Amino acid sequence: MSFPTVRMRRLRRTVAMRDMLNQVNLQPSNLIYPIFVDEGIKKPVAIESMPGYSRLPVAQVAAEGKQALEQGVKSVLLFGIPAKKDEAGTSAFAKDGVVQKATRELKKAFKEELVVIGDVCLCEYMSHGHCGLVKDGEVQNDQTLEVLGKVAVSQAEAGMDIVAPSAMMDGQVGAIREALDDAGFEQVPIIAYSAKYASGFYGPFREAAESTPKFGNRRSYQMSQGSQQEALREIELDINEGADMIMVKPALAYLDIIALAKATFNVPIVAYNVSGEYSMVKAAAQNGWIDEKTVTREILTGIKRSGADLIITYHAKDAKVWLNQP
Ligand code: PBG
Repeated sequence: MSFPTVRMRRLRRTVAMRDMLNQVNLQPSNLIYPIFVDEGIKKPVAIESMPGYSRLPVAQVAAEGKQALEQGVKSVLLFGIPAKKDEAGTSAFAKDGVVQKATRELKKAFKEELVVIGDVCLCEYMSHGHCGLVKDGEVQNDQTLEVLGKVAVSQAEAGMDIVAPSAMMDGQVGAIREALDDAGFEQVPIIAYSAKYASGFYGPFREAAESTPKFGNRRSYQMSQGSQQEALREIELDINEGADMIMVKPALAYLDIIALAKATFNVPIVAYNVSGEYSMVKAAAQNGWIDEKTVTREILTGIKRSGADLIITYHAKDAKVWLNQP
């Protein structure tokens, strides 16, 4: 059967009919809201390359958690900018570290109402800006695992609901699972940043988190943009090491990886709609070149349609505004 018996436009005629047939519905509860907490400031500091976003002092984190809940968003992802950086990442696992303090504030204010997720990495805490311990100019894999385990445990002790290792060290999920279990935190889930590509889209984040590497780049640990099979292998390894959810990052240039992951594995898939993807939308919208709400919805619907169950996005901040866009 074909035209004129078949007319595809018959089912597109009214808003109600289009809505009725909609297969992909964005929900604020599927969004994760990133927060940058800075130990060294008293007032919010705007992040220039991320319009609408600021680094916040610990004292203001609970207000931000409330903002997330008001948008219908149920979870936040914490990134810390410590007052002091060194070559051992010490402040990443300090009892009174910036993320640990922020976690306590959020859990005190919202208890089980808000899911608090901690990024487990060292780049923001290292004077050299790399995601692991460095010796003779090389990022050391196995020595870093022990430190990542300590970071995860110290976050769990502060009340963190989920830990999300993003350092891209081999074996990090298994090491963190073991460290958490040994410390009695066998109920704390892990979201593994499994397929994390070395990307130009992280630029604004590195300004926000002051985590640009002082020498070299992250290509010896983050994935190379042309690889596809390798992503599936990374994900499989992480699931075998105990990951409860896996992540693909960035999202937009890697929708094929999200779709493949969804078709291959039966764990929840998280996609990270990263800083540069947010900044591009903001910049074009500020120039009047695109309509921000329409484009934001379209981008996040596309990420979900490709197979993501959850999306980490800076657009979560005003989810209500663009979700209600007709
Ligand atoms: C830490 C980390 C990065 C991002 C999340 N966790 C930066 C990086 O790998 O350089 C980037 C997130 C974003 O761009 O929004 N390793």
